[in-house]
Amino acid sequence: MPGAGSGQPRSVVPMSATESSAGSGPDAGDHRPRPVVAVVLVAAGSGQRLGYGMPKARVPLGGEPILMHALRGIVASGVAQQVCVALPAGDGALRQMCDDFKDELVDGGPLLTVVDGGGTRAESVRSALSALEEGTQAVLVHDAARALTPESVFLRVVDSLAAGALAVIPVMPVVDTVKTVEATGDDDARIAPEVVVGTAPREKLRAVQTPQGFDLDTLLTAHREVAGLDEDQAAAITDDAMLVERLGIPVHAVRGASQSLKITTPLDLIIAEGLLEGPLGARWVEG
Ligand code: C5P
Repeated sequence: MPGAGSGQPRSVVPMSATESSAGSGPDAGDHRPRPVVAVVLVAAGSGQRLGYGMPKARVPLGGEPILMHALRGIVASGVAQQVCVALPAGDGALRQMCDDFKDELVDGGPLLTVVDGGGTRAESVRSALSALEEGTQAVLVHDAARALTPESVFLRVVDSLAAGALAVIPVMPVVDTVKTVEATGDDDARIAPEVVVGTAPREKLRAVQTPQGFDLDTLLTAHREVAGLDEDQAAAITDDAMLVERLGIPVHAVRGASQSLKITTPLDLIIAEGLLEGPLGARWVEG
């Protein structure tokens, strides 16, 4: 199967409102055609900060591994024709989980593909991009660690792409005041380890979540550009939108959701468990 990242031309006409509702979920409210969307689910992280001694995707949350929550959320949103999961290389248990989930997918559900992730998140994304089906027009890159992202966030991102965005990210207002700091020099180190060098205006700051949505060609170009970066520059790239910003292409922002938290530390896991035990379940509480 030729991959979308193989440089081959893609020539699929966007789905009409009627076609897309035949198994890919509701279309944009005003019947703009939705692009053919693949979701790249990056789940190849080690999860060391969670301290479970196993890849984060396997850590149980409300009785099911984190990966399964993330997969079910994507499928429930109905936006994807393909879901490509990047797993820790050689993790047979997670592969088996994906194989079993394929059997649960009804006709008209997305194609589920699995690839080995890489040593960094960006490498895992590139690995998955190289396995997308021909005809894919837009891609949503989503962290498996954001296992409770509500369907509404997927829909807002895809609707923005359908309206013409080449790149779109879900964001949340920042509640803390955020400052930039530098390490104190030798003379002041006994006073405090860091000193403030600036305060960003809070009303303009946003905390960025996933899924981040892109026109596929735009994201492929952005990732190709990374090849020219040195190690420090590459390490400073913490999300896909940053790569697109470097190209000078506008990155649009839509509302995220508080329950879309990235499960990183044991405290995050406690919060996620609490959300699942809430009276309506995590996905139904807009934050
Ligand atoms: O480590 P971090 O919190 O930035 O990870 C964000 C997401 O990227 C997680 O879902 C994780 O599984 C994924 N990841 C990956 N491959 C890596 C590192 C992280 O797929 N090498």
